[in-house]
Amino acid sequence: MPTIKFIKEKKTVEVPQGANLRTEAMKAGVQVYQGIEKVLHCPGFGLCTACKVMIKKGAENCSEQSLWEKANILKHPIAMFARIGNENELRLSCQTCVNGDIEVETTPEFNWHGEKFWG
Ligand code: FES
Repeated sequence: MPTIKFIKEKKTVEVPQGANLRTEAMKAGVQVYQGIEKVLHCPGFGLCTACKVMIKKGAENCSEQSLWEKANILKHPIAMFARIGNENELRLSCQTCVNGDIEVETTPEFNWHGEKFWG
């Protein structure tokens, strides 16, 4: 069975093959939303982008990004900019199925100004 390691929460769970990442996070008591999005989010339809996560290891063990997922990320300005350079790693957890071991960063922080902006 695949395992999901939630890095910030220091929690690892075993999940069935093809399990939905958002559902498994919720079962494990891991919060994928932050701020007001804890209340204001879609019910896992891939519409709000509030459930975005960063797959730190094992992105190849996740389901392919659908056109629906890509389109919805691109229509939200914050998620769109956050996706640049992280096209395979930034995922909507509600649209991601887990097929192998992965490591996930929930509620990822984004570096808006790059590594060398000030130096
Ligand atoms: S819960 Fe809304 S996009 Fe995933």
